[in-house]
Amino acid sequence: MADDQPTPTEASSQHALTVSLRVARYNPEAGDKKPHVETYNLDGCHPMDRVLDLLIRVKGEQSGSLAYRRSCAHGICGSDAMVINGKNRLACKTLVRDLGSAISVEPLKGLAVKKDLIVDMEPFFESYKSVMPYQVTSQPPTGKERLQSPADQAKIDDQSKCIMCAACTTSCPSFWANDKFVGPAAVVQASRFLFDTRDEGNAERLTVLNDYTGVWRCRTIFNCVEACPQGIDITKHIGNVKKAILYGTTDFLEGEEDHSGHGH
Ligand code: F3S
Ligand code: FES
Repeated sequence: MADDQPTPTEASSQHALTVSLRVARYNPEAGDKKPHVETYNLDGCHPMDRVLDLLIRVKGEQSGSLAYRRSCAHGICGSDAMVINGKNRLACKTLVRDLGSAISVEPLKGLAVKKDLIVDMEPFFESYKSVMPYQVTSQPPTGKERLQSPADQAKIDDQSKCIMCAACTTSCPSFWANDKFVGPAAVVQASRFLFDTRDEGNAERLTVLNDYTGVWRCRTIFNCVEACPQGIDITKHIGNVKKAILYGTTDFLEGEEDHSGHGH
């Protein structure tokens, strides 16, 4: 290494910064009547640190009672969705580099807070269950996979990327206004099975989605698309579910996926 080149330790200390992390704290078991904000200053942070790393440090170094959910730490399990600098994001996929040195974290909106950053996910999963998120078929088990064509699989690939983090549903003003609305995540999951050519459960599923708590409560506000950490085209799927109800069929997706003129 040339004399004027920094050593790895020097290079990393050149990037070190102090982050001021504002965390919404709430512990009803300790008598809290409402949330309050606590600020934690963290020295020696790196731009490539994730918000999850900051929370782990706060819990280890400053406040062992801090409560948050995490599991995979790699954007797969969907446990650590929260409001970070005002937007719904996964703490494990959000870098200090993209936020600056003043960072705030709050629990997801629209679900009851149990403690600090942990919300009650039960209503979210109840909505998910209501749309029958599994394959319904009259065909007997074969002991093998039920194969389908690549073209048919392409109709459900995007919806299959959902990790059930609830970032979309809890960013939706229609959900905030009425928590009985099944919400965008449940509609995406319904779409995953509605447009699966092996599935036979559409009549029942569409009845649930056509109900007053179903897909028509979507007012095309688009917050959900921006919130999704998986880049799912949520409003396209919501639109297709509305069409399926109106047309009484899911066949209209045939040939609809490629409007570029390059696919033929
Ligand atoms: Fe809500 Fe998304 Fe519709 S934010 S209103 S579900 S477009
Ligand atoms: Fe699993 Fe972030 S901890 S998605």
